[in-house]
Parts: sequence; C-alpha cells; structure tokens
Amino acid sequence: MKTRKLSVRDLDVDGRRVFVRVDFNVPLKDGGVSDDTRVRASLPTLKLILDRGGRPVIASHLGRPKGRRAPEMSLSPVAAHLASLLGTKVLMAPDCIGDEVDGRARGLQAGESLVLENLRFHPEEEKNDDAFSRKLAALADLYVNDAFGTAHRAHASVVGITRHLPRPAAGLLMDAEIASLSRLRDHPEKPYVAVLGGAKVSDKIDLILHLIDQVDAILIGGAMAYTFMKAGGVPIGASRSEDDRIDQARAILARATGTGVRIQLPLDHVAARSPDPGQVWETTPGPAIEDGRVGLDIGPKTREAYARALAPARTVFWNGPLGLFEVPPYDEGTRAVARAIAAAKAFSVVGGGDSIAAINRLGLAPSFSHLSTGGGASLEFLSGVDLPGIIALADVPDQAKAPRPPKPPAARRRPGARGEHRTR
Ligand code: 3PG
Repeated sequence: MKTRKLSVRDLDVDGRRVFVRVDFNVPLKDGGVSDDTRVRASLPTLKLILDRGGRPVIASHLGRPKGRRAPEMSLSPVAAHLASLLGTKVLMAPDCIGDEVDGRARGLQAGESLVLENLRFHPEEEKNDDAFSRKLAALADLYVNDAFGTAHRAHASVVGITRHLPRPAAGLLMDAEIASLSRLRDHPEKPYVAVLGGAKVSDKIDLILHLIDQVDAILIGGAMAYTFMKAGGVPIGASRSEDDRIDQARAILARATGTGVRIQLPLDHVAARSPDPGQVWETTPGPAIEDGRVGLDIGPKTREAYARALAPARTVFWNGPLGLFEVPPYDEGTRAVARAIAAAKAFSVVGGGDSIAAINRLGLAPSFSHLSTGGGASLEFLSGVDLPGIIALADVPDQAKAPRPPKPPAARRRPGARGEHRTR
C-alpha cells in the first residue's frame, strides 16, 4: 500500500503546544533579516496551527556557531520579523532548553507563539543527542517539521525528537517541497533540462551522476564550469577550478557522451583581470580564457545557446548562479537564464539562495513552479538520498492513491448498511 507522510493538517492541535522545527537559517544585516524567503515560507504552517487553536513552539538553527552561544547568531531579530509578518504575539526565549524556557512554553496562551533560541548554541543538537532531544520534546505535545532546508541533517530537533513525541508530522512547506521534488525525481516530463551553476563541482557530483540517467541536457555555468573545461583541455586562465575534481569531471563528461546526454559548457565568457568591482571586463571570443584573466560570467553566445536549449523543456531544475552574481555586471548570465526558464512552458524548480534571489530581484517568482527553500537538502533529495528528516516523520496510508477496497460479497450485505446505496 502506498503511504504518505502524516501532515500537520491531520493533527488535532487545539489547545496543544506544537514544536515546529523551521529553517530560519536566514541572512542577517544591520540587526535585521535581509532575505526573509524562508520565514515567509513557514507562515502557512504557523498560521494553520494558530488558526486551529495550537500554540507553536518554534525552533531553528542559524548559522554554524559550533555549539557555543554567539550573540550575532541569535534568532531574536528573526522572531521580531516573524511577529511583524504574523501580526500575532511572538515571544523570544532566552535559550532552547531549561526551566525558564519550559515555563514560557507552558504559559503560552491561545494566539501566542514562542521562538526558541538558536538550537546550535548546544553541541548536542548536531550530535542528535538523546537527552537533549528529550528536553526539546518536553516543551510540547506534538511535533511538526517544516524545515525542508535542514531535512538532510540528522540532528536532535530533526530526528531525535521524533522518538519522544507522538505522530511526528510534516508541515505544509515540507509537504510542498516533497511533492514538487518527487515529481522531478520520480516522473519528470521530457525534455528535462538541468541548469547547474555555483562555485563547486564537489557539491554536485552525486546529483550530476544521478541526473545523467534522467535528463536530456545539463547546462553548466558558474565557477564549476571551469573545472569541467579544464578537464576537457580548454584553457581557463586564472579562473577558479577544483583541481582535485578534474578526474571526476572527466569521468562525468565521458559518461554523458556514452549515454547521449548533452553536457553544455560555456561557449564564451565575461572575463577580467580580477573579480574586484570596477575592473575592466571583456567578452572572450570563444571558450578559452587567456592567461591572467578570470572568468566571471557566461558570455552572450552562451546565454543565447542556453536559452535555446531551455525553450522546448517540459521540466527544468536549476541550482546555482551562472556567474559572480553579487557583483554586477557579472549577474547578466544568471538573469538571462532566469528569464529563459520563466519563458519556457516547463515544470520548473529552483533550489539555492542565490538563484532564488536573482528570480526575486527580477520579479519572476510567479513564473516558476516551485522555489525550493532547500540548498543542500534539495540536491541530496534529487540525488536519490532518503533524507533523515523526512524518514523520521510518521507514515500514513495514502487514501488518494490506495486501491479501492473490494466490495463485500452480495450475500453478506445488510439492507441500509453504510455504503449500500453507493452505486460506484
Ligand atoms: C541550509 O541553509 O542549507 C540549511 O539551513 C542547513 O544549514 P547547514 O548547512 O549549516 O546545516
């Protein structure tokens, strides 16, 4: 029988404290949240719990404080921002465990939420420590995981805690992420084109090896393109490359040739002497980058070629910027790809903060089918890995997909029995 993950919709949260694991690992600037995509993405789940009389105890990590209190990684500014988005009372706890926190959680009134302090201030969080998991569990009656971006981490608030609270359920964001990414992983409509950028090949080797069996083309940009070019013997000047990955890149290119998958590398580049802002830049005439120059973005011929490859796609996955997106004018390639995907009539999924930031800046978000809040988590999911944070949630029979139960034999039916008058 097919199963699905238990959803927050299935829980009776009325009057109960609900531990909601969210991914509020967001960028902070000048004491505030500079990109609140992940905070907004958690609102539907939090509103649903509040509307149904539940009392959210909200937990997240922020950054990598390595098990120590680091005031600059406090979730306090995020809690304030959340309050302004929810328009309800949001309290900030001084820690994520302990008597005081326990008291505040127990004292929550209807309509109020409590944000716990950064889970990673305690080393036990990342160790998936059982005693710590129990202390977190003691703060609530029920558990909901809406932190898809952290589902690849087997940490206490993601995995350990689910052993100590009944019926651990997926939040609405988690549900939506699983549905969209499963469609991509399990039954993508063809042609399927993947666009991969960003700095490192090493982050994406497993994904590329998995995608090679599924996609029609992989379009590569960003610094990872230079590692592939070097593997193919193309000069890359002073561009960044991962020399310890050249053999793997070469093996990927050979495997793609064997399976008929097109791996498209840049045909030209925008290059300069250094990536510093204000440097004179130029477009290379071809794929080679001359000595002393650094490749910083895909060039105009590449933008056109990638747009042509994307136009007929029915499925697109995009992760990672195509150039040094944060330093204009090296954002042109990333923008061009965003426009090309938005224009394609494809089921389009984007993962990774930089690509999503580009889409938001262009106002193109509504043209995409799904913007994943997961960076590493979406890459692992699409590589075929079962994420520990998803495995830990309760399974329930999927009524929508389950086969109809057989009709009882006619002789055993009682007149007026439930379902007797249903003709189909
Ligand atoms: C992310 O931003 O990818 C998640 O929040 C996980 O963060 P981590 O890589 O520090 O575990």
